[in-house]
Amino acid sequence: MRIAIGNDHTAVDLKNIIVNYLTELGYDVINLGTDSRESCDYPVYGEKVGRAVADGQADLGIAICGTGVGISLAANKVKGVRACVCSEPYTAKLSRMHNNSNVLAFGARVVGDELAKMIVKEWLDAEFEGGRHQRRVDMLMEIENR
Ligand code: RB5
Repeated sequence: MRIAIGNDHTAVDLKNIIVNYLTELGYDVINLGTDSRESCDYPVYGEKVGRAVADGQADLGIAICGTGVGISLAANKVKGVRACVCSEPYTAKLSRMHNNSNVLAFGARVVGDELAKMIVKEWLDAEFEGGRHQRRVDMLMEIENR
């Protein structure tokens, strides 16, 4: 499974930790984030992750900025993306099971390294439940067509 990862300058260290963790778990990782600590603009990287997922270059995406908010907003502007900011594992898991999230976002200034790894693991291990949740996700995606 291929995971696209993107980040701004606030999240270079955490991005590297997550890339190593994903690699250890056997995932292929596409690094679309900055590797520089010089101030940059999160919309660039949120869009890159969103497009990689929407175009099928990656199966899922992970987006990290200071809070996770800005970069998730950018990813969500790409048609077909369902990016969720998750600061703890329960929401991350349910965002897959119920909302079929395809981009996970979190904040390097919000979560610690070990919590971030736990959030990623719960998110990746969870599966979309379909059923009544499929109808609601379809309704969500319909909004993009109006
Ligand atoms: C950068 O200072 C910060 O605004 C950005 O990383 C992010 O938290 C925005 O939502």
